[in-house]
Amino acid sequence: MRPSLQVDENGRLKHFLSTEGLSAPILTQILDTAESFVGVGERAVKKVPLLRGKTIVNLFFEPSTRTRTTFELAAKRLSADLLTINIAASSASKGESLLDTLRNLESMHCDMFVVRHPESGAAHFIAQHAAPHVSVLNAGDGRHAHPTQALLDMFTIRRLRGDFTRLRVAIVGDILHSRVARSEIHALTTLGAAEIRVVAPRTLVPAQVEGLGVRVFHDMQSGLKDVDVIVMLRLQKERMQGGLLPSEHEYFRFYGLTRERLALARPDALVMHPGPLNRGVEIASDVADGPSSVILQQVGYGIAVRMAVMSIILGSHAAGTAGGAH
Ligand code: NCD
Repeated sequence: MRPSLQVDENGRLKHFLSTEGLSAPILTQILDTAESFVGVGERAVKKVPLLRGKTIVNLFFEPSTRTRTTFELAAKRLSADLLTINIAASSASKGESLLDTLRNLESMHCDMFVVRHPESGAAHFIAQHAAPHVSVLNAGDGRHAHPTQALLDMFTIRRLRGDFTRLRVAIVGDILHSRVARSEIHALTTLGAAEIRVVAPRTLVPAQVEGLGVRVFHDMQSGLKDVDVIVMLRLQKERMQGGLLPSEHEYFRFYGLTRERLALARPDALVMHPGPLNRGVEIASDVADGPSSVILQQVGYGIAVRMAVMSIILGSHAAGTAGGAH
C-alpha cells in the first residue's frame, strides 16, 4: 500500500483524518473491529484493558456534545488515560498558537490527539506537525471531514441492512456546509453503495458535487423515491453567510422529512441524523421519534466505532486481537 499521511509504509492506520483516500479493507477493518466492541458497553464492567498506559487528549475548539462525550467514553472503556481540554478556558484563548499548544501537550508524552476545529484542514495541519509518536483523530474540521461520524453511520447501515452494494442512500439537506456529507459520500463510494443521492435546494449544494459520483435532486418527491437509507442533515446556520434560504418555515415545507415524504422511500427505510436535530426544521418530531428512526442507535454505535479507531491506531495488536474484547 502506498504510504500517505493517514497510512504508514506497512499499510497501518497512523492518523484518521478523512474517509477520502482510505481503502475498503481499512474501512472494513474499522467496522469489523467495532463489531467486537459493541458488547463492551452492555456489560456490568464496561472496560477492556487494550489501551492501558496510553494517554489521549481531546482538543475541542468547537462546541460538541455527542462527539466529545462518545470519544471520552471510548477512551475510558479502552482503559486509556484521557484529558479533555476546554479551549475556551485554555491558553489558546490567551493567544497561544495552535503549534505551541501542541508542543506543550507533546512534551507531556501524549499518544493521541482527538481534534475538532472550525477551520477545514486543521486536523491535517496538526498531523503534519505532530511529533512522530503522536497520532491525530479528526473529530470534525470546518466543512471538510468528520470521518468517525461517517464510519459510525456506515456501521449502523451495515448492522441493520447488510451489504452496501444493494443500497440506495439519500443524504438530505445542507450538503454545502456539511463535513458529515462529504465524509459519507467518500465512505459509501469506497464501500460500494449502489446509489448515492444528495437532495437539497440549489443554494445548499456544493459546485461540482456530481464529480464525487452522486446524483443530485432538488425535490424530495424524486430524491426519496425507493431509497433504503435517508440521512438528514441540520441546517448549519453558524456557517451560512446569510441569504441562502428564505426561512426555516419555508425550508421545512419543501425539504422537511415528514411521514408523508418518508412513505416515498422503501417501507423498511432507515432514517438517520448525526445530530443535533432541529425538530420542525429538517425533520418532523414524529419521524425523528418514529419506528424508522435509528438516530439514537447511531449515538451508541459511535462509541464502538471510536473505540475501534483508537485501538487500531494505538493498540500493539493487529485488528484480529480486538476480538478479545468479546
Ligand atoms: C455534526 C457535526 O458537528 O459536524 N454533528 C455531530 O458531530 N454529531 C453535524 C452538525 O453539527 O450538524
